[in-house]
Amino acid sequence: MRTVDLIAKKRDGQVLTTEEINWLVENYTNGVVADYQMSAMLMAIYINGMNEEEQLALTKAMVASGDQIDLSPIKGIKVDKHSTGGVGDTTTLILGPLVAALDIPVAKMSGRGLGHTGGTLDKLESIPGFHIEISKEQFFDLVNEHKIAIIGQSGNITPADKKIYALRDVTSTVSSIPLIASSIMSKKIASGSDAICLDVKVGDGAFMKDDQAASELAKTMVEIGKGAGRNTMAVLSDMSQPLGRAIGNGLEVKEAIETLKGEGPEDLTELVLTLGSQMVVLAEKAETLEEARELLIEQINNGHALEVFRQFVEHQGGDVSAVDHPEQMIQTKHVIELPAKTSGYVTRLAAENIGVAAMKLGAGRAKKEDPIDYAVGFILNKKVGDAVKEGESLVTIYSNQDDITEIESDLYDSIEIGDVSEKPTLIHQIIV
Ligand code: URA
Ligand code: CA
Repeated sequence: MRTVDLIAKKRDGQVLTTEEINWLVENYTNGVVADYQMSAMLMAIYINGMNEEEQLALTKAMVASGDQIDLSPIKGIKVDKHSTGGVGDTTTLILGPLVAALDIPVAKMSGRGLGHTGGTLDKLESIPGFHIEISKEQFFDLVNEHKIAIIGQSGNITPADKKIYALRDVTSTVSSIPLIASSIMSKKIASGSDAICLDVKVGDGAFMKDDQAASELAKTMVEIGKGAGRNTMAVLSDMSQPLGRAIGNGLEVKEAIETLKGEGPEDLTELVLTLGSQMVVLAEKAETLEEARELLIEQINNGHALEVFRQFVEHQGGDVSAVDHPEQMIQTKHVIELPAKTSGYVTRLAAENIGVAAMKLGAGRAKKEDPIDYAVGFILNKKVGDAVKEGESLVTIYSNQDDITEIESDLYDSIEIGDVSEKPTLIHQIIV
């Protein structure tokens, strides 16, 4: 096989065979195919797309390029939840203990966040002492015994995806549905769970800004998952404004604890119950979504979900007094209110800009080696559709910086007040 012939084939809109895709991915990973050739191929895929078989073949080839995690020492149906990323997305912190409370094994592998959103791991590390440096054996034992544990990503998972993603980043070929879908799904499949629940975000703060693209991405990922023998479904959820009220690591852990007690923000609670019900059905702990939802609400109301979270923190070295008194995690030099300049209704909370403002405050990383300030961030006192009076606080800012004039001005630019009250729809679509 010659790379140049495969590039020509894709350039001319033809279909690559599974054998050709396997050859290409294998030889790109081991350095036989050059970066400039793969770049041309990626642009041809970007322009001409891929059919279902090609997408599945590409995903499987990327899975095969590295290690695959064997979760078979863990009993039961392992369901993984994946979010395509948004601002203030605290769902994983809540869903983990909540479904674990129903004896569903949650074997979470996590990495650190980059850019305007913190990763789940960063959020958990707001709890003093919490760590993920546990052995594989400890990890399996914890999940078998207590149904939930988190460990750092180890091993050489999907090296082909790492190499291809780096190339896409600098050749303007990131936003291609077959390339995004195969990239995300290869990592999920290599991570070894039996079933996959996808939360595909749509709107300003998301990768996919419009419903049609998000829906197509979700359908493609569901097809790939099923094609690879994993029961997969997707929820399309709103990211036109940040989810919940808290943005920032410690603040989001506090919000997660409140939600586990049944005292969380309405949108976050609803998304958690929607995704959670799907996970419970995927794990075969309930036959219908209604039954699943009731079981989850019961775990919140009887305190079991919070107790599972507390034990999870304790088993991984965390200080449980932070669970009882989450305000410990958000002690900052300054707590500043951002007053509304006019009265009316909030019509826009630009999620991405608010996320970037939180990063400037120290809640996220611009570069991989940047430190994080766990205590800082925002509480959104008003969400889209809420009435507001002039002088009322729009946002509470937790800051360790003395001069936050730039951040305040970023926030004012991100918040619009008008005269109609309209709440965005939270769940746009469910794809099974
Ligand atoms: N996230 C990924 O992991 N891959 C993509 O291609 C895009 C987002
Ligand atoms: Ca939040």
